[in-house]
Amino acid sequence: MCGIIGYVGKASAAPILLEGLRRLEYRGYDSSGLAVLNGGNKIEVRKKSGRLANLKGLIKESPVAGGCGISHTRWATHGEPSDVNAHPHTDQSGKLVLVHNGVVENYQKLRNVLAGEGHVFQSQTDSEVLAHLIGKYYDEGDEEDLQRRLVEAVRVSLSQVAGTYGIVAMHADVPGFLVGARLGSPLVVGLGKGENFLASDVGAIVSHTKDAIYLQDRDLVYLTQDDFSVEKVDGDLSEYEVSTVDFTPEQAEKGEYPHYMLKEIFEQPTSIQNAFRGRLIDDQASALLGGLGLTPRELRDIDRIVLCGCGTASHAAMVGEYMIEHLARIPTEVEIASEFRYRNPPLDKNTLAFVISQSGETIDTLAAMREGQRKGHRVLGIVNSVGSTIARESDGGSYLHSGPEIGVAATKSFTSQVTVLFLLALLLGRMKHLSVEYGRNMLKELRELPAKVEKILLQSEHIRQIALKYIDAPGMLFLGRQFNYATALEGALKMKEISYIFASGHASAELKHGVIALVSEEVPSVFIMPRDSVYEKNVSNLEEVKARKGPTIAITTEGSTELEEIADDVIYIPEVTECLSPILAVIPLQLLSYHFSVARGCDVDKPRNLAKSVTVE
Ligand code: AGP
Repeated sequence: MCGIIGYVGKASAAPILLEGLRRLEYRGYDSSGLAVLNGGNKIEVRKKSGRLANLKGLIKESPVAGGCGISHTRWATHGEPSDVNAHPHTDQSGKLVLVHNGVVENYQKLRNVLAGEGHVFQSQTDSEVLAHLIGKYYDEGDEEDLQRRLVEAVRVSLSQVAGTYGIVAMHADVPGFLVGARLGSPLVVGLGKGENFLASDVGAIVSHTKDAIYLQDRDLVYLTQDDFSVEKVDGDLSEYEVSTVDFTPEQAEKGEYPHYMLKEIFEQPTSIQNAFRGRLIDDQASALLGGLGLTPRELRDIDRIVLCGCGTASHAAMVGEYMIEHLARIPTEVEIASEFRYRNPPLDKNTLAFVISQSGETIDTLAAMREGQRKGHRVLGIVNSVGSTIARESDGGSYLHSGPEIGVAATKSFTSQVTVLFLLALLLGRMKHLSVEYGRNMLKELRELPAKVEKILLQSEHIRQIALKYIDAPGMLFLGRQFNYATALEGALKMKEISYIFASGHASAELKHGVIALVSEEVPSVFIMPRDSVYEKNVSNLEEVKARKGPTIAITTEGSTELEEIADDVIYIPEVTECLSPILAVIPLQLLSYHFSVARGCDVDKPRNLAKSVTVE
């Protein structure tokens, strides 16, 4: 949930660290800080609660200089967001300094032991305890080689940690030398020319180098500006490979958009195309997902599918469940990853499990995957971030190819996840009973999606006007049926997570089972009701809300002008086959929540209390 970056090289570290933090701020933004080893081999620490601008102001007042440094942007786990709890943290001597992403679960016990030895702590954080532990073992070390002494101090300390970590540490006695390690939190090495980097994700360093090493759990790395070495924390050698980052610095920027979220909403014609590019097989009237690593016979023997994810990814999984059962008639179920990992569900040998994750680092989704694999099951990943932990540890899978998604609110990753799940459903269906003609029609429908999304995006201003009309709403209901029940859940999540109003999604028919009690003149109900097999049922539900003076917003298929007689506002989407309608219907919901939240003065890219990737339980 935090962002960390370390630099060692000839350039001044502070500007590089601050630029890296700006690119990492979406991972957490309660506070930020940096530490630089200055020319006199003294550690200079600057840290501040609040947004990165506060830290920049502090450094402007009190500059730091030096070519080796570490920095951190925080999502608070232990200890409130404050200057003293901000990272970096130092040890008792003030010469060892570290930044940490993760949770030291046994920090209280370690803290008590250290306090008993005279250590005095400044903060309430678990990370400071880790800094003191490493500093203690460094001071007690007797290796002549100070670099080795620091590496051993980190190694011994981490062997006592229960929990997760992605850390970067440095010591005033060992200038130009960084030590990093990871368990459960991502850490990437960036290899430059005469300079090297460590970061939580490549977005922070892609403007400096495209050569990256995605560290694996229990990897320990140490580096100077000209050299590096990767080992295991327990001392074994570690295999690593140097990858090339698959996106440009510009792709990780907002460009002419006011927010990443709006840019990523408008990228969806392209990102959806990228999700199916090269995966449509016309002569077979089917789809190809080469990364699954399954033979046609293995695919044909699958008799149950489990889809795991969190948040938006779980909503995409719900659409996938309906798609797969509709097209391939294979029993499919969705598991919230945090439930799956502790529920111990029965899985048999012909069950195929997928984990779905934009970041590929969500700790519950990662744990769900590992739990399935521990039981000997093949678990595939549907992931966006190349080189992420889930991408590397899964037994295969498919990338979204959406490009970096920086906005905390997932948008393009949802439509791409649903697209990939549709490809899976089509592939499996065409191996069973779907005809060539049906397959060809579906390929045609897929190819027409980007243009249809473009058409919806042209309504952004119309949707903004609707958002302004309801700007004072204290809450909002989202209602849909069948494939768009999950769309309703996703629309509610978008609205609540960036506007902070109460919003809930429901199957439309659930209105009468309690939900309608929430209907009032102040609370608008958004109906996702394309002209599909349950359209008339949705019309009845909308009438029920209207009869109770509830404002209604209808998202429906072009041509359904009769709704203008009963709904207060109507947003049209192009005609599309029913099972693909969530990909179109979600776009107005993304825009509605975006415009509503901006108009309410919310920071849509960095909503309060949230972070882009949930890497702590
Ligand atoms: C969605 O807008 C949220 N940002 C959140 O629910 C997110 O979908 C969830 O944390 C899963 O993230 P992942 O796809 O990176 O695993």
